[in-house]
Amino acid sequence: MSEPLLKVENLKKYFPVRRSILETLRKEPPRYVKAVDGVSFEIARGEVLALIGESGCGKTTAGRTILRLIEPTEGKIIFDGTEITKLSHEALRPFRRRMQIIFQDPYASLSPRMKIGDAIAHPLLVHSLAEKEEAREMALKMLKRVGLTPEDEFYDRYPHHLSGGQRQRVVIARAMILKPEFVVADEAVSMIDVSMRASILELLESFRKEYNLSQLFITHDIAVGKLIADRIAVMYLGKIVEIGPTEEVLKHPAHPYTAALIEAVPSIARRKKEKKIRITGEVPNAANVPPGCRFHPRCPFADEKCRSEEPKLIEVSHNHFVACHHPLI
Ligand SMILES: Nc1ncnc2c1ncn2[C@@H]1O[C@H](COP(=O)(O)OP(=O)(O)OP(=O)(O)O)[C@@H](O)[C@H]1O
Ligand SMILES: [Mg+2]
Repeated sequence: MSEPLLKVENLKKYFPVRRSILETLRKEPPRYVKAVDGVSFEIARGEVLALIGESGCGKTTAGRTILRLIEPTEGKIIFDGTEITKLSHEALRPFRRRMQIIFQDPYASLSPRMKIGDAIAHPLLVHSLAEKEEAREMALKMLKRVGLTPEDEFYDRYPHHLSGGQRQRVVIARAMILKPEFVVADEAVSMIDVSMRASILELLESFRKEYNLSQLFITHDIAVGKLIADRIAVMYLGKIVEIGPTEEVLKHPAHPYTAALIEAVPSIARRKKEKKIRITGEVPNAANVPPGCRFHPRCPFADEKCRSEEPKLIEVSHNHFVACHHPLI
């Protein structure tokens, strides 16, 4: 197999928790929100890895840290063979073009006062890849490419003239005009009307084919992951608890948390009713990670070992890994 495009090794991002006056006076040690707490994975060229999990489990922080939009606390990020974890701002510049991000809210990520055509052309000017006129031509072509036609009419429109789906096409166009090799798509279809989601996913898929684009597709919706991902990584409280080929993970989830996520989505659930695994409660605060297996307070199978010993990722079938003392397969 060829070298992966992206390698992430033991990545951690801890945010310091502001101490109360009492804690400061008592000289209590600083506490941290362990948003990402030792995550490792690889993404091949042209591969889509879906990162799935409930709100607050660290998906966005992981995605932004990989792009160095947030500085990592620990670990390594290797992009196309170069470790970029500690590169200076200047040395990072060429990588910025090659790695892009698409945010959840297409309205918030577009300037309300910039014509959408100019917004799409802008990154070309920032990276000195084209002069103004040429950038305009390329933006027009890109508008057409993402289905916003007639493109010369769309060029002069402002974000508020567009629907949510159209705005997300603009955001995708702006990222794709740089011909990136890797994109983090953070809940890219979550805020879009359900009727338009499929066409936006298809658009991303068409860029995967055209550019051999690798994607880290962040979503809380495992059904979306099923549609687009080659592999699925399930995150819980800062850690990957299961990772493997999409079909394999969905057919044979090995972690009770993954099984519960799948069972919550009737369209993809396969198990019989009587076997259902239900979890209750919410993800605990990442400033207070439970000892042992961090999922144990919500797990119906937890025993003494789970309460005291942290499980490591082990391979349960080809390329399918789970961190659980009592895997379901
Ligand atoms: N800048 C920050 N400072 C302090 N804590 C933060 C910061 N950013 C995120 N966190 C905390 O880190 C944890 C992970 O947050 P993150 O936004 O990465 O989760 P997520 O999985 O993307 O959630 P969602 O599905 O809601 O988008 C949360 O407990 C969050 O409160
Ligand atoms: Mg998020």
